[in-house]
Formats: sequence, C-alpha cells, structure tokens
Amino acid sequence: MNLPSIVEARKRTNEKPKFINYKFEKEYSNLGKNKKYVLKTYGCQMNEHDSENIRGLLNKMNYEETSDMEEADLIILNTCSIRENAHNKAFGMLGRIKHLKEELNKKDLIVALCGCMAQEEVTVSEIKEKYKFVDFVFGTHNLSELPKLISEAKESKKTLFSVYSIEGNVIEGIPFKRDYKHKAYVNIIYGCNKFCTYCIVPYTRGKERSRLKEEIIKEVEDLVKSGYQEVTLLGQNVNAYGTDLGLGYDLADLLIEVANTKIPRIRFVTSHPWNFTDRMLEVIKSYPNIMPYIHLPLQSGSDRILKLMGRRYTSEEYKRLFDKIKLIPNVTVTTDIIVGFPGETEEDFAETIKMVEYCKYDGAYTFIYSPRVGTPAAKLYEQDKTPIEVKEERLYRLNKLVNEYYLQSNLKMIGIVLVDGLSTKENELCGYTENNKLVNFPGDKELIGKIVKVKIEDAKSFSLDGVLVE
Ligand code: 5AD
Ligand code: SF4
Repeated sequence: MNLPSIVEARKRTNEKPKFINYKFEKEYSNLGKNKKYVLKTYGCQMNEHDSENIRGLLNKMNYEETSDMEEADLIILNTCSIRENAHNKAFGMLGRIKHLKEELNKKDLIVALCGCMAQEEVTVSEIKEKYKFVDFVFGTHNLSELPKLISEAKESKKTLFSVYSIEGNVIEGIPFKRDYKHKAYVNIIYGCNKFCTYCIVPYTRGKERSRLKEEIIKEVEDLVKSGYQEVTLLGQNVNAYGTDLGLGYDLADLLIEVANTKIPRIRFVTSHPWNFTDRMLEVIKSYPNIMPYIHLPLQSGSDRILKLMGRRYTSEEYKRLFDKIKLIPNVTVTTDIIVGFPGETEEDFAETIKMVEYCKYDGAYTFIYSPRVGTPAAKLYEQDKTPIEVKEERLYRLNKLVNEYYLQSNLKMIGIVLVDGLSTKENELCGYTENNKLVNFPGDKELIGKIVKVKIEDAKSFSLDGVLVE
C-alpha cells in the first residue's frame, strides 16, 4: 500500500527522470467484458488528458463507457485539488455514489478516486474515515496501474491505496482514447518546481519532468497523419520544458520542430512569466501555425503580494514581458488572478486593478484565494483578518472590469475557426478562432473538424456569433 506524504512530495532531487515504456498485460483484457464504466473528470486540461489515458486503458480491458451511473459497474472520479470547491464537488459526488450503491444494492459496483486529490494526505484520511466504500485510490503517478488495481479490488474488502509521493519517471506508451478526432492534447512536461506559496500542484504533480523531444515529435507526426488539425502542448509550466533534461533544448526549439510537422494549429499552456525568453517570442512570431494566443498568469498586481506568493517577478517585469508579447501580430493574452491572498489590502488590490487596466486582457480567470493544506500560504491564512465579504466584493469589481475588456476584445475578432462540433444553440456549430475565442455560427455538421472562415457579426461577453464566408 502506497500512501501520499506531503513531506516527501516537497522533496526535489537532481536525479534525471527514467523513461519507461508501458506494456498492457493481456491477462487484464477481459476484466471489463460486458461491463460499463462512468468516468467523471474535474479540473484542468492535464486531468482531461489523463482521463483520455484512463479511457484508453479501460478500452483495452473491454469496458464500455456510459454516462448513466445506475448502469455502471465501475465509477472513477478523476479529481482536482486546486481550490476548496473542487474538493467539495468530488466529495459531494462520492456521497451521491454511496447513496446509489446502497439504494440499488449494487454490491459489485467498483468505485475509484484518482487525480490530484488522491495525492493529498487529507483526502486519504477522509476516505479512510468517511468513504470506506471506495474500492481504490490511485495517484497521478500511478495511472498505468489501473488494470492491476481493478483486478485486485475485485478480491479485496478494504480500500486499496496506490499513491507515490515521489516519482521521477516518465511513462510512455499508455494507450489513449482521445476526446476529439481533430484536436489533441500532447503532454510535454509533467510537474512543477515553482512552489508558488498558495499552490498545491507541485505536491500533487511532483517535480518537473520533460518528455523526450523525439517522443513528442513522433506523437505530433502521428496526429498529422491521422488528419488532426490542432495540438495543444501541455504542462503546468511549458516554458520550463527541457530544463530538467539539461540538453540545451528548450520550448523555442520544440516549437520549431512541432511547427515543422505542418500541423495546422499549435497551442501551448500554461506559461510562467519567469521562464519566457525572447527567442520563444521570436519563434511564436515567425511560424504561422503557432497560434497567437498566450495564457500568462498574473496572480496579483501588487509587488508585496507577488513576493509573498513566491512568483519570482515584479509587476514591472511582468509589464515588460507583456509589452514584448503584444508585438506579436494579432496576439491575444489571457490571465489568471487570485484576489484575497492572505493579507491583501485595498492598496494591493488597487495595484491588481491598475495592472488589468494596463494589460486590457482578452480574458481572465479570477479566483478567491483558497487555503490548501500543507502549503506555506495556508499558514498566513490563519492570521488573515480580511472578511470573505470584502474578498467577494473585490472579486466582483475585478470581474466587472475583466468582462468589459473581454467584450472589447471580442468586438475586434476575425474568425478563422476550427469547427469543434454542434453548438448548444440549435442548428449551429461552434469552434475556436486562432486567438481561442469561442464562435457560434449556422453550418452543416460536415464541417466538424475543418478550419473555416467566419465573419463575426456580434460579440457577447463570452462568445461570438458569426456567419460562414462560403
Ligand atoms: N486559491 C485560489 N486560486 C488558486 N490557483 C492556484 N492555487 C490557488 C489557490 N490556492 C489559481 C491560480 C492558477 C490557477 C490554475 O488557479 O491563479 O494560475
Ligand atoms: Fe502552481 Fe505556481 Fe506551479 Fe503554476 S507555477 S502550477 S501556480 S506552483
């Protein structure tokens, strides 16, 4: 039994990652025969992509997917722990599943929890105490053990825990069942070494481990051959790509090679301002298939708070980088902002507002600070005297401003759209522009997966309406 440990998870060594090739063991092929599973995914793109792996493995085991929990033989929750409400959602769902299991008398139903919450000591204790019906818990480094765990859970009466706190390895070749046939996520770097003081990710996702460029390029080339139109390169901090490998090959080099595969669209998330080089910007500018869209988390506009957050830049340094990014033609920049970090004063918050006024972001994800057990900021939070109502009011003011700029930015958009699928609006399609703006427009289903030109006719706060230009 492997249990998570926050002390272990904090450790970083200089050891290089080992690259291991995954092999599916045939003995598990029939575990899911005539059986159905429900997979619920919470959180970021990294989790969504992990869920594509989980689906790939379950597919190999001959499980069939369903969205109906009542007919499921296996329910897996792939969880997120970035803020308290993500935690609450997963525990709420566990409560529902418990009820379902009892009400329908589904003794053979297997219930599993994985993802970032599985890496936390607090979650594991809570499951041991209150959710004993959970059959197994597996961590973010233990995905490939899923078939073995399902097989063992069938025999075991106790909850099984398989969570490594330290994992220096990169496992290649876990099968995928991708969500889309035209756009794909491609991991380039796992983990994070930044340890921003509010953030749980460096503990739940481990140290920075880059994939070898050969593996990444081969994956993209295969996607091109299969007709994919877009790849999103994924990492907690993509700009740190390659640092751990020490080969003198960084994100700029990787972007050039990915661009040369001729995949029509390349995106990458998330960028930490600290690791952004001029060369990366030059490369983004020079290749038309690298999309002019950059997500550049600000977190706060106050130097005092940025320091407490351990963000490693000042507001001036951020502005300087922002100005350079804005030299990329047609670029859009989005951001993340936290309000109500412990000790944030009205003056600190005013600095954040000033920064938003300066950057006029094309979009922003805004959050109220949420204490995470084991992180340094959680200690500061114990002394935090700012009432939640004040934080909510700051968030309200910030969102009002952010939405104004969002709308202004939408009004300027031109639409070269990769069509994703049917819109929630009847008889319409939807897709994203090069700048990652969501567009709805009337059109035929045949266009799904194609890149089309759309004339923007109207801009709402969060989406655009358009019509096809032949
Ligand atoms: N509380 C609130 N927001 C957080 N984020 C990360 N940790 C926390 C936290 N403890 C936000 C940051 C990050 C985004 C993914 O989530 O803004 O960029
Ligand atoms: Fe969290 Fe900071 Fe790492 Fe982003 S860079 S994952 S905010 S620690």
